[in-house]
Amino acid sequence: MNPRSDFPILNKTINGETIVYFDNAATTQKPQIVIDAVSNFYTNSNANVHRGINPLAEEATKLYEDARATVAQFIGAASKEIIFTRGTTESINLVARAWGEASLQAGDIVVLSQAEHHANYVPWLQLKEKLGIKLAVIPVLASGELDLQAAKKLLAEPRVKLLTLSQASNVLGIINPIKELFAEARDLGIVTLLDAAQTVGHLPIDVLDLHCDFLVASAHKLYGPTGVGILFGRAELLAKMPPFLGGGGMIASVATDSFVAGPVPEKFEAGTPPIAEAIGMAAACDYIKQVSWTEIIKQEETLTEYATQKLVERPYIKLLGTALKRLPVFSLVINDLHAHDLADLLGQAGFITRAGHHCAQPLHDSLGVVASLRLSLSFYNTTEELDRFFSALDQVYQSFN
Ligand SMILES: Cc1ncc(COP(=O)(O)O)c(C=O)c1O
Repeated sequence: MNPRSDFPILNKTINGETIVYFDNAATTQKPQIVIDAVSNFYTNSNANVHRGINPLAEEATKLYEDARATVAQFIGAASKEIIFTRGTTESINLVARAWGEASLQAGDIVVLSQAEHHANYVPWLQLKEKLGIKLAVIPVLASGELDLQAAKKLLAEPRVKLLTLSQASNVLGIINPIKELFAEARDLGIVTLLDAAQTVGHLPIDVLDLHCDFLVASAHKLYGPTGVGILFGRAELLAKMPPFLGGGGMIASVATDSFVAGPVPEKFEAGTPPIAEAIGMAAACDYIKQVSWTEIIKQEETLTEYATQKLVERPYIKLLGTALKRLPVFSLVINDLHAHDLADLLGQAGFITRAGHHCAQPLHDSLGVVASLRLSLSFYNTTEELDRFFSALDQVYQSFN
């Protein structure tokens, strides 16, 4: 397997060095096939969807709806359960506003984990301010795993209405036992929301198998375009939810004093949707299937094992979260060296990493760490790139010691 040739940007050089792209948790690179799908749409099929009775509008609408079917199938859902949004963040906001405001009352509890991305904190904190709901936080153990005993205790509280969790934190990369926790939540009548932003490009996901009521993800983390993502919702839930945004495309009828919302999914897609981007997202799903999960997982496991060994060999590095069942995502702290300085120096040599709290300040606060340096790999990365990276990191460390 040599998928590198599918990704033109991987040949880019910085200061004469071919880049080593280790920032896949922020966004993945795009294969030519996805770039072509977006470009072909604009070159040959561009029109607004769902509106015109003309052949071009019909062609664009068909491509857009076919994209919905492809993405739905990719996660084991039905087309009518998929809403195209701008991404994970908008999808969680949609659930918080449309489902949360209609279903939650003061004193109700939303359970989440310490390791959630800000996208899975702030919308619930906003509801805390607005409705007086409470947030209950599952602690993260030193291994980076969720404290399952604490989680089960929290779920047993009578007023818990929602369990919202990332399948893997964008900082720790450790894969959470979602199926087990969501099954327990379902048995207790608690609604479940899976933030699959980090996992959707690394693992096959089946919404039924995982007992998801809602799932959210962004295309740009699964080799697709920016500006588009999905909300999956179980049909009964979506049918009962009021619309989130109002405007064209989401109505059955409008009068000067009232409106009637249209059916799902249009009800949640006000205005012109991200048409080319949705088509690009479907092309990315097809690309993953073409490469195959077997190949992707095999290569990513090799990289995870190799990187873990390199990290363990270096006592000057502290890895945040050491559990082994993980994505190839590693956040590091090096005594006396600020992560921003490390990212900057490494960047000058072509290594694209990320430094900061990675939009997970509650997690960094609980670990007593202000910022970490994150390497996040994809199946197109190689062990040779890891060798190059660790030798550059050793040099930077030695130059300061
Ligand atoms: C776990 C997790 N949730 C949510 C998000 C937000 O995704 P987006 O910025 O695409 O909306 C991210 C982005 O890094 C993430 O890693």
